[in-house]
Parts: sequence; C-alpha cells; structure tokens
Amino acid sequence: MVSGAIEAMRTQLEKLGNPSSLHTQGREVRKELELAREQLAKVIGCHASEIIFTGSGTEANNTAIKGLYWKNRALGRNLVVISAIEHHAILDPAHWLHDHDGAEVVSIGVTKSGVVDLDALKVLIDNRGDEIAVISVMHSNNETGVIQPIAQIVAMANVASIPVHSDCVQSFCKVPLSFAELGLTAMTLSAHKIGGPLGIGILVLKRGIDIPAILHGGGQERDIRSGTLNAPSIVGFAVAATSSIPVAEIAELREEFTSGVLAEIPDAFLNGDSAQEHLPGIVNITFPGTESDTLLLLLDSKGISASTGSACTAGVQRPSHVLLAMGHNDKSARSSLRFSLGATTTRDEIKKVIELLPSVIEQARTANLR
Ligand SMILES: Cc1ncc(COP(=O)(O)O)c(C=O)c1O
Repeated sequence: MVSGAIEAMRTQLEKLGNPSSLHTQGREVRKELELAREQLAKVIGCHASEIIFTGSGTEANNTAIKGLYWKNRALGRNLVVISAIEHHAILDPAHWLHDHDGAEVVSIGVTKSGVVDLDALKVLIDNRGDEIAVISVMHSNNETGVIQPIAQIVAMANVASIPVHSDCVQSFCKVPLSFAELGLTAMTLSAHKIGGPLGIGILVLKRGIDIPAILHGGGQERDIRSGTLNAPSIVGFAVAATSSIPVAEIAELREEFTSGVLAEIPDAFLNGDSAQEHLPGIVNITFPGTESDTLLLLLDSKGISASTGSACTAGVQRPSHVLLAMGHNDKSARSSLRFSLGATTTRDEIKKVIELLPSVIEQARTANLR
C-alpha cells in the first residue's frame, strides 16, 4: 500500500465518529470524508456528488449492471449487453440476471488482438437498440491489459439512448481516464489496484440518474448504497489516487520484459497486439507446450509471482475465458501466463525473470510430456 495512505488511514482509524452522526466527532469525520470525495472526483473527472462509495469493485459492478437493468426493464428494455472478456464481477451478475430475472444477455466477441468487435456491437444497436437496457464494457482487460474503445462505444450507444457502464478498475491512475470526457453513465473503480486499501470501491453514477439499490437501510450514498461509510478506507483511497504511479517507468520495463522474453523463447507470443493501446503493467504471454499451472509453480519456487488468469471452480482449472474469446483453443489458453509490473518492480527483477525463464520453460515442457 502507498505509505501516505497507511498514515492517513491510521489517523482516521483513531477518530471515533460515524460520518452520518450529527455530533461534533461525526461532523469532523464527515468533513474529512467529503474532502476525500472531492479529491477523488478531481482525479476521476466527475462531480463529487456522482461518487457512490461501495465495499469493492465487485459491488460497484453488481450495483451498476443490476440497477441499470432494473431501471430500464421497467421501460421495456430487456437486453443486457456485455463483452466476452469482462471480469467475473460483470459476467456473473449478467448471467444471474439471465438465470433469475428474465434478462436476455448478449456477449459481444473480441478480435484476435483482444479488442471488442465494434462492428458486431453496431449491428446489434442498429437492429435492437431500443431493447438494450445497459451496455457494460471494461476500459481495459485485467488479463491482457488491452484498452477498449469506450468513447466509440458510448457514441454508438447514445444514438439509441443506451446507458453505458465501464469497469475501469484496471485503468484508473494507470492511463488517462475521465468520466465526463468518456460520456459514461456509470463507472467502477477499486482502491486496492492503485496502492489503496482492500475492500473499498466506487460506483460513479451520472448526476440525475437514479437506479434501484441492492442494499437498503440508512439511505447513505443517494439511497443507492446504504451502510455506514468506511471513512478510513475512503481517506486512504483518496491519498492513493492522488499519489503518482511511475507509469512511464513501468511501461518501459514492460517493453524490456516483453522483448527480452520473446527473444529468449522464440516460439512464445504476446497476447494482445503490441501495437494495440495497453496498460503499462500487464503482459500476457503464451509458452507453447507448457501447462500454465506448472509454470506458475516453478516460477513461484524461485520467488517469482505470475498468474494464470484461469478460473478454478470446485478444484477444476478452466482455461481463461478471455484468451478463448481471443481465438485460443483450450490447450494454448492453458499455456499462457500473465505477469504484472508495478511501482516496486525493478530492472534487476525483470532481468532475473528473463534469465530464469528458458530453464523454467524447458522443465515445464518436459513435465508436460510425461
Ligand atoms: C477488471 C476488474 N474488475 C473488477 C474487479 C473486482 O474488484 P474488487 O477486488 O475490488 O472486488 C477486479 C479485481 O481484480 C478487476 O480486475
């Protein structure tokens, strides 16, 4: 966590006072919380009143997609449109709306480079725009880092008055992002991806838009998210969002890492075209002939953390739905690893991974033949 955020949280934790209480202590906490909201609004490019604090990015996604669906279903719109590469915090509530609440869900595919198929989305909007309750497409993908054409999607959706929500968890503070400039109806953010605390998220919801709530109670946050506000985490979130992340340095290391790995392992390939706009700190590479779980464990034993992006349900590993949507088959999707680079990643660490990888790949390939 960003050290300033820890300090700010510690100070706030020592203050008693519910920000919704009218006594002096409560009012003091409220003042600091509202200051944090203003600071966050500046970074997000929205009005402070458009920020609704939630307990996670997952909660913000659920509130947005369910709320916008329920609001617009009442107006005769029954279609929920998502992309095939969404995080499970959008995929699962969308499928829940289908299974339990009568929604029709359409998943828009992506190109080989991992970008949402705008032609397919346009055809859908042209033919069924007046049936669409909400479109939800992430700003950048958490497995490949590929950035999605959100402004173009909003422009297409506006023609049929369709609200667009975007899960911006991975992009926030990493690439330029402005709620107002994108023209979104709703946006999701999460503190722990930018060096803030765990368990605090934001749903940005355009002024004047009201959606049904999931949580009912004290009426906090425009009556859309009841529950006592988590002042220490909110203050920590604001400090993290206003601290700078060395994005240019991370992007440079990413390029060095990618070219180094591809030079050492000639048949490895990058997922998500390098010409495509992408996040500074995510690299996804396929290593043919390996099993990503084996690779992950071998790297872990050498102190290197990577991730597979695959989901594990009831002990069964499944290949990444993101890579499958990009045209991989099960086998090649299972031979892929995601590496994340951040503010604390050093050039020496990058070099070490590049040096170690050839022997690790060899071991993984041998294990795969057995
Ligand atoms: C793209 C994306 N959306 C949503 C989430 C969920 O956010 P949270 O962990 O705050 O629930 C994540 C977390 O990894 C994510 O990467």
